Amino acid sequence: MSGPHRTLVVDTDQSMAATIAAACPRGAEQVHSLAELTGLTGLTGLTGLTGLTGLTGLTGLGPRLGSVPPAHETDTVTVVFGPSCDSEAMLETCVRLHRADPRSGLILVRRRPDATLLTAALRAGVSEVLTDREISGLGEAIERSRLAGARLRLVESTTPRAEITTVFSAKGGVGKTTVSTNLALILCRGGARVALVDLDVAFGDVAVTLTLFPAHSLADVAALGPALDPSSLVSMLAPHSSGVQVLAAPTDPGAADTITADTVTRTLDILAEQFDHIVVDTPPSLDERVLAAIDVSSRVALVATLDVPALKNLRIALETLSLIGLPFERQCIVINRGDAEVGVLLRDVPAALGRPIAAVIPSSRDVPASVNAGIPIAASSPEHSVSRALAEFADHHLVRVSGRSVASAQAAGQPPRRSRWRRTSTDAASEVVR
Ligand SMILES: Nc1ncnc2c1ncn2[C@@H]1O[C@H](COP(=O)(O)OP(=O)(O)OP(=O)(O)O)[C@@H](O)[C@H]1O
Ligand SMILES: [Mg+2]
Repeated sequence: MSGPHRTLVVDTDQSMAATIAAACPRGAEQVHSLAELTGLTGLTGLTGLTGLTGLTGLTGLGPRLGSVPPAHETDTVTVVFGPSCDSEAMLETCVRLHRADPRSGLILVRRRPDATLLTAALRAGVSEVLTDREISGLGEAIERSRLAGARLRLVESTTPRAEITTVFSAKGGVGKTTVSTNLALILCRGGARVALVDLDVAFGDVAVTLTLFPAHSLADVAALGPALDPSSLVSMLAPHSSGVQVLAAPTDPGAADTITADTVTRTLDILAEQFDHIVVDTPPSLDERVLAAIDVSSRVALVATLDVPALKNLRIALETLSLIGLPFERQCIVINRGDAEVGVLLRDVPAALGRPIAAVIPSSRDVPASVNAGIPIAASSPEHSVSRALAEFADHHLVRVSGRSVASAQAAGQPPRRSRWRRTSTDAASEVVR
């Protein structure tokens, strides 16, 4: 159901604001400075911005604007910036508005828009730029922006977001990259759109493991700052022959500091709209970037091997994740090299950790051999016991088993995705231990 469309006209010159508002066929509310818009709408952070675009934050505008409908009654919002608005501040406001809600229409009316302004406006998410002599066309421009916003809203409401799986271990060398790269390839087999993000920003080796030479990395994504949007992000992914799209770690460890938790949150948020699955590889530390990824993940695969330091670190990681409020059902324990006879018995692990084990991956020299060959084992040997154990883990823990994606696949006469890679492993080491 679509609600009313609302138009705001922002101009410091009251008579110009009135002229522009009069050119809006369904009327418009007038605001007379960017500061007023910012102050009255709480345009200081994402929450305030969301409030503005849903118009719930506009109640502060007071009786002049009348009562403001709650967000769910509002279809789309168009903000028209008049010619008296300062260009730089206006474009900065546009960037923030567009970032907070790409459904909002942003229209500029300028006296003499030059090429520099047009380019900056495009980057800021502005949908149309009119000259002040063209304001008779404002009604059509607003209608176009309303329709674009409504279309985006429809797409959003019918597009399921990606399942995000973060693969983590507080100890290095236990198999995080092995698990994440192979899982990404396995998830891709059923035709799903899969992205693999390397959050090991200082020493990430996802790209080298997949024999990729990416032109861009997370550092380039971070450098985009507020201009980061779906098209720029997608252009920074490196395609693997399997279909997996990789967002690589920077090759220069010094670039790591530029990648913030906010970069991670925004990156995953945008990718979640474009993909069915996102797999995130991590460094062996619970830094702010990893926490940001965990925060938006549907599953955290906690990898450990059967040695006392790895299990001790796994226990600490489990306690930490519970302390920060990650529900148990989002935590999956993956024991890698689970058949290695190193003194710790696999069957003792669940009791020691107080949790079941979701997957046991056997040890095989074929794994390092596959890394050295640059072809993950799931691609070179899908029937290998390591590949099968990972496929079973994906099948049982990472693939949506209820809800829209499976239901719509069934309605379309296709088998649910999970059945396409279901295997029965006879390998004792891959039995799930409870
Ligand atoms: N199941 C396995 N059997 C045999 N070797 C394995 C297995 N899993 C991983 N390895 C090997 O162990 C080594 C470390 O694996 P990997 O790089 O995946 O660990 P990591 O946790 O990502 O390490 P880091 O913390 O350094 O990023 C690699 O040489 C890899 O080939
Ligand atoms: Mg690694």
